[in-house]
Amino acid sequence: MAKTIIVSNRLPVKISKTDNEYMLSTSEGGLATGLGSIYKQGDNKWIGWPGIEIDEKEDQDNVSAQLAKLSLEPVFLNQEEINQYYEGFSNDVLWPVFHYYVSTYSVYKQSNWDYYQAVNKKFAEAVLKIAEPGDVIWIHDYQLLLLPALIRKELPDVSIGFFQHIPFPSNELFRLIPWRKELLEGMLGADLIGFHTFDDVRHFLGAVTRVLPVNASANVLTVDERLVVAESFPMGIDNEKYASLPLQKGVLEQKALIKETFKNSKLILSIDRLDYSKGILQRLQAFEQLLQQHPEYCEKVTLYMIVVPSRDSVPQYAHLREEIDKRVGNINALYRKMDWTPIHYYYRSFPIEMLSALYSSADVCLVTPLRDGMNLVSKEYVASRVNDDGVLILSEMAGASKELIDAVIVNPNNSGEVCNAIIEAINMPLDEQKRRMKQMRQLVSKFNITHWVKVFMDKLKEVKQMQRSMQ
Ligand code: UDP
Ligand code: G6P
Repeated sequence: MAKTIIVSNRLPVKISKTDNEYMLSTSEGGLATGLGSIYKQGDNKWIGWPGIEIDEKEDQDNVSAQLAKLSLEPVFLNQEEINQYYEGFSNDVLWPVFHYYVSTYSVYKQSNWDYYQAVNKKFAEAVLKIAEPGDVIWIHDYQLLLLPALIRKELPDVSIGFFQHIPFPSNELFRLIPWRKELLEGMLGADLIGFHTFDDVRHFLGAVTRVLPVNASANVLTVDERLVVAESFPMGIDNEKYASLPLQKGVLEQKALIKETFKNSKLILSIDRLDYSKGILQRLQAFEQLLQQHPEYCEKVTLYMIVVPSRDSVPQYAHLREEIDKRVGNINALYRKMDWTPIHYYYRSFPIEMLSALYSSADVCLVTPLRDGMNLVSKEYVASRVNDDGVLILSEMAGASKELIDAVIVNPNNSGEVCNAIIEAINMPLDEQKRRMKQMRQLVSKFNITHWVKVFMDKLKEVKQMQRSMQ
């Protein structure tokens, strides 16, 4: 039976080692959480890196056996590959450029690029080992931009979909990368290339037609006489899961505890991975502005801020963590009262039940990335609001802002605007909250993750048919 092979750098579960034992836990990040709930259908397989270095053959076999039970196939990376392919090229070159963080001091190291190519080949070998005629190969994200072409070379007729979960920048930025041509050629090995927003598609088509000798007619490209389509597919979430969790007993108990703890103040929730693209420092500035310029809100609002550890071996991330620690410490030291702490800050991840209790308890969810492909946290908050109340403040730089137009939309760089949005949100009349939240809940419920997978897969089939009818 034909199967779908999902390929991404990170598997939906990660491995950690305690007392000589390998433990499995859920991965964070939108790609893993979004696809994690739907991949286990039929004979499907997911190939990816389990998140730590495992050198011993015996340990690798042990981990592979555990993962096989979940239809997962590991690609093991050694420390040098982690340093150069994952931390170096993926997260110190592609991530910043694709999120518009280009500095004149950017360093493009040849050795990072060499490892990026080598690890993409390693992933290709892992795919080719299990791919059979008729399978669909669905590759995800910027760590594997070369993979579609590497597979196409070996399996010329196979169906390959590629989805990019982060923004695609304007060509003015993209073209700065020394290996821009090779990266685009790699992506064009796919039949269908998906992005979260129409702007990303437009930027991608602009880059392809400027950098390569490839013609585009609207969103259809002709690559060596093969049709390739680029289109936007805004990713959804497992709406049913987030809408039913707040009614579970354990979650209700956590909610009661949260309600009691914050009974005297409005609760503002913020949840992100540690990342400079998430605008965490700018958000703290806006919150401090609120306390400083509107002291009447002191003791009346509390910011509950979760930052999930991520990539902290990349210097910018380690530095950001220190800055957040300092800024939170300063704000709490300046404004706290005996029985009120302005910011409850957690640097760790939480189980989904606790996230659900927080999503469904918070009066406001404050999501202010400086740049974000989609941002699933904003959709998870909406899906959790089963009573239709609560206010979402959302950055216009997040892909989700194109769909969640009933949120209070802000420019995250404008601290005054964010501060005013917080005031508007905590004072918003209930009927206005409900009017907005109902619209957003309908959208999140309809365009859920199952719908997203279906629309992408249907389009991929259509592209294959178009290609056949051209032959
Ligand atoms: N998340 C998680 N554990 C936590 C906090 C967050 O698994 O303790 C999840 C969150 O539920 C969401 C994902 O991490 O599904 C973050 O995805 P998003 O698209 O918002 O941002 P990304 O991290 O992909 O940039
Ligand atoms: C974003 C990226 C994913 C990545 C995730 C977590 O969501 O789009 O590809 O997996 O962040 O980052 P990490 O580097 O820990 O995998």
